[in-house]
Amino acid sequence: MSFASNLLVGRSAFIAGGTSGINLAIAQAYAAHGAKVAVMSRKPEKVDAAVATIGNGALGFAADVRDYAAVEAAMTAAAAANGPLDIIISGAAGNFLSPAAALSANGFKTVVDIDLLGSFHVFRAGFEVAAKPGASMIALSAPQASAPYVGQAHVCAAKAGIDMLVKCLALEWGAAGVRVNSIVPGPIDGTEGMARLAPNPSMRKLAEGATALGRFGTTDDVVQLALFLASDADSYITGAIMAVDGGQMLAGNASFSHEKMPAI
Ligand code: HXC
Repeated sequence: MSFASNLLVGRSAFIAGGTSGINLAIAQAYAAHGAKVAVMSRKPEKVDAAVATIGNGALGFAADVRDYAAVEAAMTAAAAANGPLDIIISGAAGNFLSPAAALSANGFKTVVDIDLLGSFHVFRAGFEVAAKPGASMIALSAPQASAPYVGQAHVCAAKAGIDMLVKCLALEWGAAGVRVNSIVPGPIDGTEGMARLAPNPSMRKLAEGATALGRFGTTDDVVQLALFLASDADSYITGAIMAVDGGQMLAGNASFSHEKMPAI
């Protein structure tokens, strides 16, 4: 983030998975815009390193999103220190490429546990200590939620579950003044997700070609939407699945490759 403002002054934010990648960039942006930020992820050394880069008195918690009691303890402590949570992000995720026929039951379960069960944990525990009315909850989903991908059965199933969870929670928690939305980053350059899913130049080219804009997005493209959803800019968006993907979803899984297109 190249600028700061008082957009989120007085807000308390909790970001599960907020110690790396897009989630860390969101944490840094929230802090730069005045929020009191708490981040959580599995490895203590990663938490410490991230906290040092966030600023504005950021707090860090080492806990696994798969452990409900640990998530609840971290979120309760963050709310006790920074005030009821105004912004709750579920961003922890696990991913690897594996054909379904080569995937063990535990491999499938591991990703569903981190992504889907973890999101339930974060939102369920977060609801107890959320600012009501007014809290904004955000899941970091993926295009895999709505289109099947080869080698991603585990991730597709988990992310589809996340988007439906978001809609159900939005429906139930709207009465408490809590909004729940999903951000769907497409191919964002420099992320761990892209490194895992497009590890070589030809796969990178395919990923770019699968977007309408024909290029990768930046982490900041996603950060800007996360800022918008956390701010007072709008208070009427809930249950929305919002893509930041250069138009990738327009083609579903058919991925339009600009290279293969006839000249128009
Ligand atoms: C097949 C695999 C595998 C692989 C692990 N497993 N890696 N199977 N191919 N490459 C299997 C293991 O064999 C084991 O099953 C089971 O999964 C659990 O593995 P563990 O290593 O014990 O699990 P754990 O230590 O909990 O690690 C979880 C993890 C790991 C998901 C496997 O990669 C991780 O911690 N990732 C976190 C970071 C991450 O993935 N970031 C990417 C996020 S990007 P068995 O049967 O052998 O016991 C992202 C964006 C998505 O999510 C969308 C992008 C566009």
